[in-house]
Amino acid sequence: MRKYIVAGNWKMNTTVPEGVALAKAVVEKAKDIPANVELVVAPPFTHLASVAEALKGSKVALCAQNCADNEKGAYTGEIAVNMLTSVGCQYTILGHSERRQYYGETDEKLVVKTKLALEAGLKVILCVGENLDERKAGKHFEVVTSQTKNVLYNFNEEDLKNIVIAYEPVWAIGTGETATAAQAQEIHACIRSVIAEKFGITAADDMTILYGGSCKPSNAGELFAQKDVDGGLIGGAALKAEDFIAIATSF
Ligand code: PGA
Repeated sequence: MRKYIVAGNWKMNTTVPEGVALAKAVVEKAKDIPANVELVVAPPFTHLASVAEALKGSKVALCAQNCADNEKGAYTGEIAVNMLTSVGCQYTILGHSERRQYYGETDEKLVVKTKLALEAGLKVILCVGENLDERKAGKHFEVVTSQTKNVLYNFNEEDLKNIVIAYEPVWAIGTGETATAAQAQEIHACIRSVIAEKFGITAADDMTILYGGSCKPSNAGELFAQKDVDGGLIGGAALKAEDFIAIATSF
């Protein structure tokens, strides 16, 4: 059974009071969304405990934007997976292109982080996606295939149940330029076939694959109508509760 998810990646935005207000507004409006769509919010680390309070009793899940690649100890500035579960996180995003690009996150590191997250009981939203040069060079299928294989192929079918893939073409993130529904669909289908190759058709069919990159209320419907697009990872538009909810009602 494939799950539909709309996740809001707040990135480095909002203060704690602003974030709590946003979470409350999302909870309030979440009543309008279809029962088969899961809503997830990913605030900054500093907000997690307070946002967890605001989400209590709702069906909105709490997600971190990253986690450390070590369990605990002398790693100044890092946040361990058990810290995340201790404040009520159910998910963590891993491998966002901004982390790959600015913080040297490699596929090897992502394998370690994914392992730690799954062991701690966190679900992982694993991001993949090509940059503009790679798209222009016609290498998008190759890049996404290798990013997917490099991480996912280190896990088993049971692990896969707790992993969600987010396809986010880097050239579409925060640029206002969205992949067309057809461009998203062909990459999502490619990711699903990469999964099927190793884990079989059923596991691939059950996998939730999200689209991210300038997804907004005006284009979400067309993107989500594609047979391999199972929701979205939303950046900018997740900072407004109305827009975030409008996206989640676009299925
Ligand atoms: P965007 O960001 O919706 O602002 O393009 C998406 C993301 O980076 O997750």
